[in-house]
Amino acid sequence: MAERIPIASDHAGFEMKEHLRGALEKMGYEVEDMGTYSSASTDYPDYAHPLAAKVESGEAQRGVLLCGTGLGMSYAANRHHGVRAAVVWSPEIATFARSHNDANVLVLPARFVSEEDAVAILKNFLDTRFEGGRHATRVNKIETETA
Ligand code: RB5
Repeated sequence: MAERIPIASDHAGFEMKEHLRGALEKMGYEVEDMGTYSSASTDYPDYAHPLAAKVESGEAQRGVLLCGTGLGMSYAANRHHGVRAAVVWSPEIATFARSHNDANVLVLPARFVSEEDAVAILKNFLDTRFEGGRHATRVNKIETETA
């Protein structure tokens, strides 16, 4: 069965979300579009929290968020336990966000990446495995205040 990937954006990421929705479907994923559904002005936390809650609860393994810079979405998503939302602006960083940081939410700065790069970033994010080992030790320390 195809993995169901939730995707959401604010108005600044709306057009890129529409593009990536098609790209995800072409890659064989089932897409859960959690809004926004037009380019009318919206507030990014209204979209980041519901998507991150799905990853926090385990309902979704990973998800995709978009806003203008990626920053607001990442701030809100990273308030959820177990969520590691990475702002990614190049395909290479997408690979490291997965292999070293075990990112489970991809956050795209829609106003600062081309459609071509966004698809390449998405593909690397979805196709790259976490390396574990020393990186797992570090990632596990994120959720605890003391080492
Ligand atoms: C919206 O204008 C913009 O502020 C928002 O998309 C995002 O970049 C916030 O972090």
